[in-house]
Amino acid sequence: MVLSFKHEPFTDFKNETNQEEFKLALKKVEGELGKDYPLIINGEKIYTEDQLVSVNPANKKQVIGRVAKATKVHVDQAYEATLEAFNSWRKISFQARADILFKAAAIVRRRKHEFSAWLVYEAGKPWDQADGDTAEGIDFLEYYGRQILELSQGKALNSRENEHNSYFYKPMGPGVVIPPWNFAFAIVCGTTVAPIVAGNPVLLKPSEYTPVIAYKMVEVLEEAGLPKGVLNFIPGDPVELGDYLVDHKETRFINFTGSRQTGTRIYERAAKVQEGQQHLKRVIAEMGGKDTIIVDNSADLNLAADAIVHSAFGFSGQKCSACSRAVVHKDVYDEVLEKVIAKTEGLTIGNPTENNFYMGAVANKKQFEKIRTYIEIGKKEGKLIFGGQSDDSIGYFVKPTIFKDVEPDARIMQEEIFGPVVAFTKGEDFDDLIDIANNTDYGLTGAVISNNREHLERARYDFHVGNLYFNRGCTAAIVGYQPFGGFKMSGTDSKAGGPDYLLHFLEAKVVSETY
Ligand code: NAD
Ligand code: ALA
Repeated sequence: MVLSFKHEPFTDFKNETNQEEFKLALKKVEGELGKDYPLIINGEKIYTEDQLVSVNPANKKQVIGRVAKATKVHVDQAYEATLEAFNSWRKISFQARADILFKAAAIVRRRKHEFSAWLVYEAGKPWDQADGDTAEGIDFLEYYGRQILELSQGKALNSRENEHNSYFYKPMGPGVVIPPWNFAFAIVCGTTVAPIVAGNPVLLKPSEYTPVIAYKMVEVLEEAGLPKGVLNFIPGDPVELGDYLVDHKETRFINFTGSRQTGTRIYERAAKVQEGQQHLKRVIAEMGGKDTIIVDNSADLNLAADAIVHSAFGFSGQKCSACSRAVVHKDVYDEVLEKVIAKTEGLTIGNPTENNFYMGAVANKKQFEKIRTYIEIGKKEGKLIFGGQSDDSIGYFVKPTIFKDVEPDARIMQEEIFGPVVAFTKGEDFDDLIDIANNTDYGLTGAVISNNREHLERARYDFHVGNLYFNRGCTAAIVGYQPFGGFKMSGTDSKAGGPDYLLHFLEAKVVSETY
């Protein structure tokens, strides 16, 4: 028996003791920077000459770690290990598998600030965002551990008088986990442990930008008792390894989170049946967003401004859920803009390894260049009314940026920027606000700020996003409370952290006995 799930509380950084403890964790991690990390295949540590070099995005000269790079030969070796491991792992009791996740959660909880400090260094996360990322990882461990115990019972079936029918879940076999860098602990952890606790061995290819924190997670799972070969750590070049992993005939599933471009490529390639392949591959692809906050004319405008600022600029807008479009009723448009600008003026920006800033640097050079390109596009498509500046002399810093009077079809209203940039557009009435909000290929998150119940109820069904929020921002879903996944080109709506998530990694089997 386990106690019911409760999400991991966040750290209050207004509290001085918490601040001091966090600074100590940053100091500890600083002392551990620059080390070499291996691949892990069948429990063996393999160091390679060719390495990924992970740096601090807020201080490009600071090396976080050097991580071994896997080749296609390593992938083949990892597959051999998973096939061997599958024979025993799939028969280990559900309770024993769940217990490994619960122990891993306890280990991370003990070292919570340390994990968050790694996120500050490697992913450029401000303190509260790093703390939220670690807490979410703990939540995934606790939640999926409980979920597999529920599923262990299978489902009830009717039987006629001379038969006995049973319906139960079995694992599928080895698969590949491909996460992004932006939730470098939580998403890596959740997308890896879900298939594992369901009984499937995994090849984890972390993002090339955040491999060190991914390695730290693998270490924890080993410490918690995961047998060798169940989790193989194979960082490497995405181009060299990506297609090979996806195409591999032994790949049963691909659990991907990342951009639309990569996700659609994986989806297409995985559909092709390779020589010797005896199954169809399942693809879970959670992809980008172009998320909208609607502000109605009945709204609490301070709440609306807070929701927009926090959803657009928290972690510099580098969340699939970030608000990059504010669609505001014409009656309150100017007032909402004024309030958003005033609140944005108060945001602090700097190197989060030095202090508790609201925003840090953006994650890497590629991100920095992409965001700058969109800021230039925005200058042609709307009026730049705040920010727009950037500086990459020490780290990749971009100021929070606001455009107004942008047409709904403009590129900065349609394409994912993944940076601290929000575009405002005006709507005539609530129908118009909903139409503009839906006018995108994506369908991940959205929010409606309104005190009109009829409008909220209309949005419930007509605003086409996987995660819809009323009278709050559109980020910060919590495991078990707001299962997460998007519609349309945002992905396969897998609802991570939700009651059906593990079913993506299980096959249901029916045995009918006549007697
Ligand atoms: P990305 O697509 O560039 O990379 C994601 C992962 O795919 C990385 O591990 C990368 O190495 C790997 N990859 C790259 N090319 C590959 C290939 N050809 N084959 C296989 N794997 C390949 O995305 P990113 O920049 O790491 O992450 C940002 C994106 O992720 C944004 O679009 C964001 O919206 C999205 N995201 C979505 C969710 C969600 O739940 N919907 C959550 C977080 C991030
Ligand atoms: N799950 C994350 C959020 O809701 C991306 O912000």
